[in-house]
Amino acid sequence: MADLNICPLEELPPGTVKIVKDGELDIAVYNLGGELYALEDRCSHDDGPLCEGDFDPEEGFAVCPRHGAHIDIRTGNALTLPAYLPVDTFRVKLEAGIVKVEVPARAAARS
Ligand code: FES
Repeated sequence: MADLNICPLEELPPGTVKIVKDGELDIAVYNLGGELYALEDRCSHDDGPLCEGDFDPEEGFAVCPRHGAHIDIRTGNALTLPAYLPVDTFRVKLEAGIVKVEVPARAAARS
């Protein structure tokens, strides 16, 4: 695993999301009330751009813009059809004020 730099924490206030596109791996980092969570920006139903749709920062789910599945941002679990498989999640950490995500080494090497 390696660290992928996302952004300074001040660029990701509560209730917002930051999407980082890095080759084939696209990751969205959400700030839900001060807690940070990272989700792959790829819906488990049909590879839709999951994190480019709306999300509910109070309930903590993303709404896939392609067919409307709700995905739990904290766990990656599918909450509503047509998605039923989980979406990949990633560990988020904060170092010296920079938000970072642990990713497979190949993805970080491209950043
Ligand atoms: S691609 Fe996300 S619900 Fe179909």
